[in-house]
Amino acid sequence: MKPTVYICRQMPEDVVAPLRDQYEVRMWESASEAVPRDVLMKEAASADALWTVISDQIDEEILDAAAELKLIVNMAVGYNNIDVKAANARGIIVTNTPDVLTETTADLAFALLMATARDLIGAENTLREGRWTSWEPLGFTGTDVYGATLGIVGMGRIGEAVMRRAKGFDMDVLYHNRSRKSEMEDMYGCRYAELSDLLASSDFVLILVPFNEETKGMIGEKELAQMKESGILINVARGGIVDEDALFDALRTKKIHAAGLDVFETEPVPLDHPLLTLPNLTVLPHIGSATVKTRKAMMKRNVEALQAFARGEEPNHQVQG
Ligand code: NAP
Ligand code: GLV
Repeated sequence: MKPTVYICRQMPEDVVAPLRDQYEVRMWESASEAVPRDVLMKEAASADALWTVISDQIDEEILDAAAELKLIVNMAVGYNNIDVKAANARGIIVTNTPDVLTETTADLAFALLMATARDLIGAENTLREGRWTSWEPLGFTGTDVYGATLGIVGMGRIGEAVMRRAKGFDMDVLYHNRSRKSEMEDMYGCRYAELSDLLASSDFVLILVPFNEETKGMIGEKELAQMKESGILINVARGGIVDEDALFDALRTKKIHAAGLDVFETEPVPLDHPLLTLPNLTVLPHIGSATVKTRKAMMKRNVEALQAFARGEEPNHQVQG
């Protein structure tokens, strides 16, 4: 009997086909709607492997129901949707999809930074809604990116890729991590800073740490108050890292100039969320890795992990809780 893999989101048949020799493949047949929790619970109960996406919350309740489960392949580099510690404690391997999305996500981070700095979406809406009356000396004016100071909180794979882009814009780059990267500092001339110094000195603050108990609420009222009044906050990591109530207050009262968010505490963000009433906020629906090439590469990573496991090999890119 072949093992069963349950794929929590509809994937293209050409991606799934190679798995059919080794697995009994079951799949949630919607690409745009998340699998309901009761369905996931029922499917997990008889699955040997699960293919998850970031909206699938794999917690102890699901793991307890999943008696046969041995492998979870998460189609993302972030894996905060999975209780990895609880999975590992049950002998379940968890994998993610690093590297293949690094440059694509860095492109998006830089695009969001630029769109926020120059309020591109506000300007486009003004034009489309017929409110563009004339050239104005100080109309549509934004913040310069070229030559500005960028503070990267979380100088990992994506942070480093953004830094390379920033160097092309002659930006001064500060970074904050738990560990220093001396080689990178020598190569690119970026500088390590304590978080408070980075916040106080940067024109743009870019969040790129993983979401976990340590980084939850890492940017709250106190940290936003440490930013420049002209400062712009960009978050492409995870919603819970930035306290949304504190951000709303800081943007509304102009304690900081603007923010750009690709991620939210609750996704999709509810349309009546107070943040969405603010003109100095640019928002995107979690599209960091969204190019066809990159999403296909992430799918391939998951297929490879499943295939390796079926052959009795250790899958690559295992994560630990
Ligand atoms: P990564 O290579 O692991 O980089 C994360 C960096 O954060 C590391 O350099 C790490 O350095 C630092 N870090 C971790 N915990 C920290 C802490 N408590 N304080 C300060 N620094 C800390 O990960 P990545 O591939 O760049 O991805 C980063 C995150 O981006 C992912 O976890 C994911 O949530 C998010 N992401 C979002 C999208 C999107 O679509 N918006 C797409 C891809 C990824 P130290 O260990 O030295 O602290
Ligand atoms: C997307 O958010 C990812 O973590 O890959």
